[in-house]
Amino acid sequence: MLREIITYPNKLLRTKSVDVEKFDNELHTLLDDMYETMIANQGVGLAAIQVAIPLNILVICLPDENEMQNKEDVIEAINPKITHKDGVQVFLEGCLSVPGFNEEVKRAEHIVVEYKDRFGKEQKMETSDFLAVAWQHEMEHLDGHLFIEKLSLNKRKKFEKEYKRQQKTKKL
Ligand code: CO
Repeated sequence: MLREIITYPNKLLRTKSVDVEKFDNELHTLLDDMYETMIANQGVGLAAIQVAIPLNILVICLPDENEMQNKEDVIEAINPKITHKDGVQVFLEGCLSVPGFNEEVKRAEHIVVEYKDRFGKEQKMETSDFLAVAWQHEMEHLDGHLFIEKLSLNKRKKFEKEYKRQQKTKKL
């Protein structure tokens, strides 16, 4: 089932999510819904708080070499924690909760993350490049933050201007 994605400046996006304790059918339905909602909106990652559920859950599904996002490639992470990060990379990011805006963000190049899968089994992943960007972006949502908060003052002003312009456009 598709869920509604909440967008900036909805205050719910500032909620710090809490850990999942039950790895039950309700969780599995939420994960399936999050995947469906992410794909339907042309996203590559989605955190539960973006569908107004304040739980430490995220899904990531990067396109393969044929630009296909296969369900079997989806990463489902429950209660994730970054246990190591190093290096620096800059990537042009967007966010389903900040539609119509892209900006370069500086993040760690390489990370190690520990999390649980949908059955509560411990998982560990070491990754870099775009997948590391996606992890860091989604985990920021779980902390109640958006990528636009990381921008320099000038870029932030550019965002505010663009946001106001979009708001005006909607009123026509
Ligand atoms: Co986002």
